[in-house]
Amino acid sequence: MSDRIQDRKVDHLTLCAERDVAFRERTTLLEQVQLVHQALPELSWDEVDTSVELCGKELAAPVYISGMTGGTEKAERINADLATAAQALGIAMGLGSQRPMLGDRSLAKTYSVRDVAPDILLFGNIGIVQARELSAQALTDLVGAVGADALCVHLNPAMELVQPGGDRDFRRGEETLARLVEELPVPVIVKEVGSGLSAEVAGRLRRAGVTHLDVAGAGGTSWVGVETLRAKEEAKALGELFWDWGIPTAASLLQVRDSGLTILASGGLRNGIDMARALALGASAAGLATPALKAQRSGGPRAVEELMSVCIRSIHTALFLCGCRSVRELWRTPRVLGEELARWADLGGEGA
Ligand SMILES: Cc1cc2nc3c(=O)[nH]c(=O)nc-3n(C[C@H](O)[C@H](O)[C@H](O)COP(=O)(O)O)c2cc1C
Repeated sequence: MSDRIQDRKVDHLTLCAERDVAFRERTTLLEQVQLVHQALPELSWDEVDTSVELCGKELAAPVYISGMTGGTEKAERINADLATAAQALGIAMGLGSQRPMLGDRSLAKTYSVRDVAPDILLFGNIGIVQARELSAQALTDLVGAVGADALCVHLNPAMELVQPGGDRDFRRGEETLARLVEELPVPVIVKEVGSGLSAEVAGRLRRAGVTHLDVAGAGGTSWVGVETLRAKEEAKALGELFWDWGIPTAASLLQVRDSGLTILASGGLRNGIDMARALALGASAAGLATPALKAQRSGGPRAVEELMSVCIRSIHTALFLCGCRSVRELWRTPRVLGEELARWADLGGEGA
């Protein structure tokens, strides 16, 4: 497979949509979060309010479609379809890495969704290694060119180490984030891409002035797995070994929950119950990537809307059945943790 950046983006879409790139043994551990049923909720359905405020915008439900693509013709259609669904439902959406735009500004149109989604909370996206080399003005232009409300900066060392020709120098990340928080006119959301964030990292992010993070934990799409399918020989062997590397999403949420940061939850969330469990662990919103891509492929914006709409209804139902009027109340609802997850909770953290 080729290593031109645009070809790599096309490979990513094809591999995620058509091949099995899920974690093999490792799960999100969300199955080890049990919410306690409330048989006497003293609520009516309409009293349950799923809306949340995030990055200065109100979402109708605490849900987002994670950043996936941009920079290619196919991506333009995908982003437009995802955005159409997000606009219809009043939820948020992320764009894929805007790195291709750095070399060719005409590619901005493959990320431009504001014509179909004027109101959604929209996240721009760039890697920490690229961000390190860019001025605040260049990054502000990148965000402005697509009308994003916030910039996701992704941390993806595991994936890069397996990727042929991937980045190998991840120094000065913390310093870069401190600079961006200081100089950018929009919030910076620091996200992983499927290997999770620890308490120690959350603590360092907080000290750097970061206010939002997305755990993007292990148990869903394995980005080491995706790159392993693209790799040859030695890199392939390395990728096979590290395929399941990462902190499970539920464990990562427990690690970062006391950091004082606004938390977004993603990585292996596959339905509204997963989302409700992630919210109960302290997240303000829950997102998914690969399932939305597959839905888009199978049925365009309508299929994406259907998928996300079922997620929203399921979150509403879970809130009701826990006797909670809001996501904020769900944060305080009792829950029972399984053994392995409880060990992660015991680990506590520096972010606490
Ligand atoms: C096709 C595809 C492309 C992706 N590209 C990006 C990207 O450019 N930037 C980024 O931060 N995350 C990217 N991701 C990662 C997702 O945002 C998400 O963190 C990860 O896939 C875990 O979520 P999931 O298990 O629901 O797929 C991509 C995911 C997919 C499926």
